[in-house]
Amino acid sequence: MTKQAKLENLKAQILKDDVCPELAGAATQLVFGYGNPDAQIVFVGEAPGKNEDLKGLPFVGAAGKFLDEMLATINLKREDIYITNIVKYRPPNNRDPLPEEKSAFLPYLQQQMAIIQPKVIVTLGRHSMECFLPGLKISEVHGQAKRKNGQVYLPLFHPAAALYNGGMRQTLLDDFATIPAVIEAISN
Ligand code: URA
Repeated sequence: MTKQAKLENLKAQILKDDVCPELAGAATQLVFGYGNPDAQIVFVGEAPGKNEDLKGLPFVGAAGKFLDEMLATINLKREDIYITNIVKYRPPNNRDPLPEEKSAFLPYLQQQMAIIQPKVIVTLGRHSMECFLPGLKISEVHGQAKRKNGQVYLPLFHPAAALYNGGMRQTLLDDFATIPAVIEAISN
């Protein structure tokens, strides 16, 4: 079975398992993920917002536009990578996802990563980092590649947080610029 087919099955499984029915009931649709199932890099955000909920795609609002700009600085397009979120339904009024919502989706996120088998998982923001690398402080470890159980992670600030904060924006751009070297180091 192709990775794409396995991902389709996983998406169907989330619907069948009725994960987070309250979130599902309030959301327009499941936002499973987008991009190349054979990608070397996967980006994991927090949860869909309003635009993502309407379109059924991750990172299509202002934060997504900034993400596209950053990808372009390292010569990548959305089609080259894969993007998803921890929580796959929009939380009402864009509130932070609850711990139980993150835990409910975690096994599916782990399966999604196991199917794609990326070289590096780039976590966007604190919530995403804590799913994979609990106990770390994003202010201390952003931009530093970490290896855990054979998987390389690169924790970055969330593009939405950096959007209107000049200092953080530059930090995020600088951290982003390290991605090619991280991939290169893993490949060698
Ligand atoms: N923020 C996220 O964390 N994910 C999205 O898909 C959009 C905005």
